[in-house]
Amino acid sequence: MRMYDLIYTKKLGGALSPEQIAFWVEGAANGSIPDEQSASLLMAICWRGMTTEETLALTLAMRDSGKRMDLSAVPGIKVDKHSTGGVGDKTTLILGPIVAACGVPCPMFSGRGLGHTGGTVDKFAAIPGLKVELTDAEFIQSLQETRFANSAPTGKIAPADKKLYALRDTTATVESIPLITASIMSKKLAGGADALVLDVKCGPTAFMKTLDDARTLAQSMVDVGTAHGMQIRALITRMDAPLGWAIGNALEVMESVEILRGEHGDSELAQMSFRLAAEMLIMGGAAKTLPEAQAKVRMAIQDGSALETLRRFVGSNGGDAKALDDFSLLPQAGRTIAIPADRAGYVSALDGRALGLLAMDLGAGRKDQHDVLDLGVGIRVHVKVGQRIEPGDMVFTAYTKAGHPVKAEAYLATLGLASDRPEAVPWLLDTIGC
Ligand code: URA
Repeated sequence: MRMYDLIYTKKLGGALSPEQIAFWVEGAANGSIPDEQSASLLMAICWRGMTTEETLALTLAMRDSGKRMDLSAVPGIKVDKHSTGGVGDKTTLILGPIVAACGVPCPMFSGRGLGHTGGTVDKFAAIPGLKVELTDAEFIQSLQETRFANSAPTGKIAPADKKLYALRDTTATVESIPLITASIMSKKLAGGADALVLDVKCGPTAFMKTLDDARTLAQSMVDVGTAHGMQIRALITRMDAPLGWAIGNALEVMESVEILRGEHGDSELAQMSFRLAAEMLIMGGAAKTLPEAQAKVRMAIQDGSALETLRRFVGSNGGDAKALDDFSLLPQAGRTIAIPADRAGYVSALDGRALGLLAMDLGAGRKDQHDVLDLGVGIRVHVKVGQRIEPGDMVFTAYTKAGHPVKAEAYLATLGLASDRPEAVPWLLDTIGC
């Protein structure tokens, strides 16, 4: 088989066979196919797309490039969640402990952040001592002891995705529905969960800018999961403004704990986390209907069992659970800079991508994958879309290390202001799947 023929076929819009796809994925992962040929094929796939059969074959080839987790030692239906990513998205820190507290095992492999979006692993890394890269045995033990496990994926899960994702990142080939589907679903299928809830983000700062594209991506992932006997359901959620008040790793831990304590219950972040958790409870067999599941979620917050589960998860993985009750034990920024509004109006937009980039510039995110993060820095967003503000009202606080320049104009430029109150847009745009 010649890689040239695969590239040529896809360039003309033809379909590749499962054998051809397996040949490419294996060769890309073991280095026998040069990067320039893989990059050419990736670009051809971006333009020409893939059939459902090709996407399925690509997912399987990527899944089988590494090992699959065996979670059979953990009783119950294991339910995972995946979000396609957003600024300030800390839903995993909130819903994992809720779902586990309600009796459903929740195994999760999470990524590190790159660019303007943060990664769940970096947020957990802000908890002193918490081990964020677990061995298989530790992962299973955490699930058995607390029903929650979260770890950076070891290099053994879908290594072909790691290789191809790095190439996509440098060749502008990330935004492709079949490539995103195969990348996410190969890791999820290898991760060993029985069921999966997807949070597919849609909006100007997400991979999927339009509702049509978000629906197509969601359906594509649901099709692949279903074909493999996985229970799978996707929620399509709006992504434009940052999710919640915190951007930055230790700050996001604080906000998550506040929600688990019962604060900010009517915020979009809390509502979204609770809804995703409720969907997971239904899949895990802990509830039959959405109202029943939502009541269980509320109870886990009210009786403190969700927060207690997070404490136990942290404690059993080497972390200092006291930091969840005493935020002074979390990494701190050296300095805070208040940024007040310079104009009056209704907040009509908050540019999540631009704020994510500003947080990255403070040191909360990685410009390249080798950057070392400052886990204490970040941004507090004091306002919400729809809110009326006057000059002098607090809009942002930058948490930064001493000496780091902070330009207030750059922060204020992320704020859209209108003379009339903007119409409220719901955060849940659609649901797809079982
Ligand atoms: N997240 C992934 O893991 N892969 C993609 O391709 C896009 C988002």
